[in-house]
Amino acid sequence: MKEIRFFSGKDIPLERHRVYLVRKLNLLPVEERLQKLQEAKSNLYLLHNKDIFLDMLTDSGVNALSDNQLAAMMNADDAYAGSESFYQLEAKVKELFGMDHFLPAHQGRGCEKVLSDLLVKPGDIVPMNYHFTTTKSHIVRCGGEVVELLPPESLECESNLKFKGNIDIGMLKDVFEKNHERIPFVRLEAGTNLIGGQPFSLDNLKKTSEVCRSYDTPLVLDASLLQDNLYFMKIEDPDCQDLTIREITKVVGDLCDIIYFSARKLGFARGGGIAMREGPLVVKLKELIVLNEGFHTYGGMSVKDIAAITVGLEETMDMEMISQGPLFIKYMVEELDKRGVPVVTPPGGLGCHLDAMRFVPNIPQNQYPAAALAAAVYLAGGIRGMERGTLSEDRNLDGSERFASMELLRCAMPRRVFTLSQVEFAIDRIHWLWENRELIEGLEFTLEPKILRFFVGELKPVSDWQEKIVKRFRQDFGDSL
Ligand code: F0G
Repeated sequence: MKEIRFFSGKDIPLERHRVYLVRKLNLLPVEERLQKLQEAKSNLYLLHNKDIFLDMLTDSGVNALSDNQLAAMMNADDAYAGSESFYQLEAKVKELFGMDHFLPAHQGRGCEKVLSDLLVKPGDIVPMNYHFTTTKSHIVRCGGEVVELLPPESLECESNLKFKGNIDIGMLKDVFEKNHERIPFVRLEAGTNLIGGQPFSLDNLKKTSEVCRSYDTPLVLDASLLQDNLYFMKIEDPDCQDLTIREITKVVGDLCDIIYFSARKLGFARGGGIAMREGPLVVKLKELIVLNEGFHTYGGMSVKDIAAITVGLEETMDMEMISQGPLFIKYMVEELDKRGVPVVTPPGGLGCHLDAMRFVPNIPQNQYPAAALAAAVYLAGGIRGMERGTLSEDRNLDGSERFASMELLRCAMPRRVFTLSQVEFAIDRIHWLWENRELIEGLEFTLEPKILRFFVGELKPVSDWQEKIVKRFRQDFGDSL
């Protein structure tokens, strides 16, 4: 990608697209934000979208479509069975990853469900760089256990480590030596979500693949965040300097046995699917897809989305298209860092991650510091981030809390959606909150579901700290929204 320089020397990210469809945003007065937060039981998932100014909850299914995607959607071939749009997607997946088969699913967790149903049995262990919430829930549901193999440095928020998503190969060999008969597959997650959207390197993928092949065990890639991983490989990985994004993608495909993804992320659309080479698993997985997701030429997706993914995957091969997210995230991370706000470094993909352990060290983990910080950020600017910490963990079987190794608040950067001044606004309001962080206190459950409790659980503040934030806001901002 050719760089564009400013005459002034100013170093800011520049959008390589123009906006041609817009949605008006609404910033409520801070008193109304408090009321909406209370109605949502301090769980930002329960807010209504209309009450949010900047939705930085996720990049899932909310990335901006391109003109070419929209055109392809209008032209999609609608059929229960045999849609031409599906065959075009299958061909695109084959072209990019070299996989013979593509089994569509309604979204990423649909892929995880069928893969776990087929491959995981009670007593199994699944080694991986790091878990994702839905992945782990499906593996555990089938009686398996997740074993995470990141070196300790990867779990430190502040770091210079470029590829924090790398599996520790020594640990992987060790798990195989002790337990290889209990390992149905190894899972590697691109752009490792829960540690701050951090990539793995090509060399690490190669070594992981070698170990798996020596034990004849499939390597499964969760490619939901592959787009960011490809960007970092191209920018930072010495082994990728002479390769194009398309060539890197092909090498990645060659090293894996199964690739699944949420197309709500990869491909700027909605849906998901599993790509794999010819083999005995194909028929069995196809049966499960038909049973759980829908006929295997739509898999629970609308054909419009299928057509959008095909175009979106092709756009993923274009650095100018995939660089905006990581560049905006880098800008936000570095600007917050300059102001002393604790953030995850180096900047990853997916979003800017605030380190709640250092932002609100006064809040014990059983009062969910990252969730409390998320509620406070909503009050400060109508900005919705996502808690990625203890609240996102389910309890241990004995009912005790399973404390997360990191307490993060993710401010996601949906792709091609926000402008730089909106990012500046988020930086400004988070900075204000940092200066007033002593006001923030914890949360406690009033209604706690057993599985994936963060989605619909209800909480309340442990004191009147949310009212105190509103009062301070009025003192500092006058009648501003
Ligand atoms: N794997 C990864 C790495 C993910 O980030 C997600 C979703 C999934 C699987 C499941 O995919 O949502 O399509 O069923 N991540 C979303 C997020 C929810 O906000 O990070 P899905």
